[in-house]
Amino acid sequence: MWAGRFQKALDKEADDFNSSIHFDCKMYKQDIKGSIAHAKMLCKQGIISEEEKDILVNGLNSILTDIEKGDLQIDMLAEDIHMFVEAELTKRVGDTGKKLHTARSRNDQVALDVRMYLRDEVDEVCSLIKDLLKAIVEKAEQNKSTILPGYTHLQRAQPIVFAHHLLAYAMMFSRDFDRLQDAVKRMNLSPIGCCALAGTTFNTDRYFEAEQLGFDGITLNSLDGVSDRDFCVEIMSDISIIMMHLSRFSEEIILWSSLEFSFVELDDAYTTGSSIMPQKKNSDIAELVRGKTGRVYGDLMALLTTLKGLPLAYNKDMQEDKEAVFDSIETVKKCLKNFAPMIATMKVKADNMYKAAQGGFINATDLADYLAKKGLPFRTAYKIVGQLVAYCIANDKVLDTVTLEEYKQFSDVFENDLYEEISLETCVNKRVSAGGTGPESVEKQIEFIKSLL
Ligand code: ARG
Repeated sequence: MWAGRFQKALDKEADDFNSSIHFDCKMYKQDIKGSIAHAKMLCKQGIISEEEKDILVNGLNSILTDIEKGDLQIDMLAEDIHMFVEAELTKRVGDTGKKLHTARSRNDQVALDVRMYLRDEVDEVCSLIKDLLKAIVEKAEQNKSTILPGYTHLQRAQPIVFAHHLLAYAMMFSRDFDRLQDAVKRMNLSPIGCCALAGTTFNTDRYFEAEQLGFDGITLNSLDGVSDRDFCVEIMSDISIIMMHLSRFSEEIILWSSLEFSFVELDDAYTTGSSIMPQKKNSDIAELVRGKTGRVYGDLMALLTTLKGLPLAYNKDMQEDKEAVFDSIETVKKCLKNFAPMIATMKVKADNMYKAAQGGFINATDLADYLAKKGLPFRTAYKIVGQLVAYCIANDKVLDTVTLEEYKQFSDVFENDLYEEISLETCVNKRVSAGGTGPESVEKQIEFIKSLL
């Protein structure tokens, strides 16, 4: 391409090192669509003729069709997808093909392609998040009165319903959805026409080209337009947060699937056996999702570090953006695709959850609240219940099996109505504060998630 300026070709090893075709070939569709819009703009502005435009557009469309039909292999010896498409076009239509690169540079072209690619991919990620939200909300609806211990410090704390626990994750994923939508809003400005860095002396119409490609506007500073990879960093940050949420959820599912918890059983389709231990049923899919979270954080760190010292405008370092951002996208998509059906098919062992909730004195707060409602200061009530818990531990009892006589030794405020007050069902159903585990709040949460869907 630049043989005029050079005495010899790029060294073979250096050529291989310099090339990005192995990964940017993914963007062939965006590259071709961008070029079609560019040809139309050049024609509208009188920079090329109507006839030349038709030749370019037809040529580009034929390349797209042939790649899609498998009739054209992308040449892995090309430097990148932009060079490949241009060279193939010229091969097909002759010298007119050489006019396509008027008033643009690969610097704005690559920035355009990546934005278009991410726009499509983020769309897919968002619809996968919706699938997951659907699976979660369905499980929640089936478990509105399934009681289990809620934990703090991984110690049994207070009883909750399983729906409430699941819906906590639904809230996280709904924010993830919003974050991606928000990032796309900022990203959806077209950089094409910034050219190499400074714009062009041709009378181009960047707005027309942007509109053709479904952008909301154009980047207003050409240096920024070709140097900006904030949108990649932003989307990778958003994906990292999704992975963090998936990873926490995975961790709980792995724990819940253990014999020690036995709160859930994953479907055979999402577990594996052991090559030596015949009894094993391992939560490999959840573990892999947890594991892949590290890899996605790595992608984000890699790009942030690549960008941190770069002077304006384009530098070849920026070619490193693509593998990182593609990997994040591919990984989160695979994780979500497996996670939603894994949740949908997960069997909930309500009896075991309930049994666990009966131990660990998780109604102690409610007993203290009982005394406080009868007029004792909460701190005094708290202390009395603490003594009762110690008494239970020493005498192998739980708060529900202590007799009223015994209770009276700790405080004469206790009456028979305390038993009703500390039943697990009461503990859950009377948690009436907004956002709590009570039935009205759980219903409201379900409605909220459904309204998003
Ligand atoms: N393959 C390059 C990339 O991915 C395209 C831009 C090349 N621009 C340049 N001036 N060498 O970043």
